[in-house]
Amino acid sequence: MKIAIIGGGNMGITYARAFVRSNIVKMEDLLIVEKHDEKREELKKEGVAILNKEISAEVSDYDIIIVAVKPQDFKAVVPELSRVLTKKQLIISIMAGIKISNIQSALNHQSVFRAMPNTPAQLGFGITAFSAPENSSMEHVSIVDTLLETTGKCILMKNEEMLDAVTALSGSGPAYFYYFVKHMIEAGKQMGIEEPVSSMLVKQTMLGAFQILNNSKMSIDDMIKAVASKGGTTEAALNKFDSTAVGTNIIEALKAAEKRAKELSNG
Ligand SMILES: NC(=O)c1ccc[n+]([C@@H]2O[C@H](COP(=O)([O-])OP(=O)(O)OC[C@H]3O[C@@H](n4cnc5c(N)ncnc54)[C@H](OP(=O)(O)O)[C@@H]3O)[C@@H](O)[C@H]2O)c1
Repeated sequence: MKIAIIGGGNMGITYARAFVRSNIVKMEDLLIVEKHDEKREELKKEGVAILNKEISAEVSDYDIIIVAVKPQDFKAVVPELSRVLTKKQLIISIMAGIKISNIQSALNHQSVFRAMPNTPAQLGFGITAFSAPENSSMEHVSIVDTLLETTGKCILMKNEEMLDAVTALSGSGPAYFYYFVKHMIEAGKQMGIEEPVSSMLVKQTMLGAFQILNNSKMSIDDMIKAVASKGGTTEAALNKFDSTAVGTNIIEALKAAEKRAKELSNG
C-alpha cells in the first residue's frame, strides 16, 4: 500500500509514524506533502524519504491520500489535489468540521472518508471516530479502520452528523482533562504542597483512577461511593461540586463545543 499525507504537521506526522511503526506502509511508500521548509527538515530527520513542498503528479501513484491540513487551508489544496486525483484513490480527511459531501464536491471525488482523531493518537492511545461515504464498500471501510487503528481505538459512526458531538467529546476531550488536572495541581499548591509534588500526586492519581475505571465492573457512581465515606473529606468536595453545579456546567460546556462544531461544519 502507498500512502500520501497532505500536511506534515502534528497529526500528519502522527499518522506517518503510526503507519510505519505498524508495518502498514514502508518508508519508501510514504509521501508527505508539507509546504513549511522547517517542518520538512524535521520530517527528513525522522527518516521520511519522499517529501514534497507541493502536491504534484506523483500523488496520483498513491492508493490512499490523507488530508491533514488545517480546515482553513483546504481551499488552497483543492485545485492542486483535484488535478492529480484518480478514481480508485481513497481519501481520508481528518480536517475538523468539513463534511464529506463538501469535500466530495470540491474535489469531484466519491471515495472520501472523514475522521475525527484526538491528540493521544501520538502515543497510540487515541480514539478516532470516522464516517464513510454513501455506498462505500466493506473493503474500503475495513482499510480505513485498519489505518486509523494504528493510532489507538477506532469507531465507525454511521451518521456523519454525530462527528460534531464526537469533536466535542473526544476531539476536544484531552483539553478538558488537562484543565481539571491543572486546577487540582493548583489546589495542592494553595494547600502548601510544592508544584512538582502536587503534579506527581495528581497525575498518578488520575492514572490510577483511570485504571480502576477501565478495569472495574462497578458503576461510576459506585466507584465514587467507594472513595467518599459519609461525612468525610471526599464528600465535602463532592458537595461543593454539586452546590456550584460543576457537573451540569461540564455538560453545558461540552454542548457549547458541539454547537461550535456544528457552526464550523455549516460554514
Ligand atoms: N490537533 C488536534 O487535536 C486535532 C484533532 C482532530 C482533528 N484535527 C485536524 O487535523 C488537521 C491537522 O491539524 P494539526 O494540528 O496537525 O495542524 P498543523 O500542525 O498546523 O499541520 C498542518 C500542516 O499542513 C501544512 N499545510 C498547510 N497547507 C498546505 C498545503 N497546501 N500543502 C502542504 N502542506 C500544507 C501546514 O503548514 P503551515 O504551518 O506552513 O501552514 C502545517 O504544517 C486539522 O484539519 C485539524 O482540524 C486536529
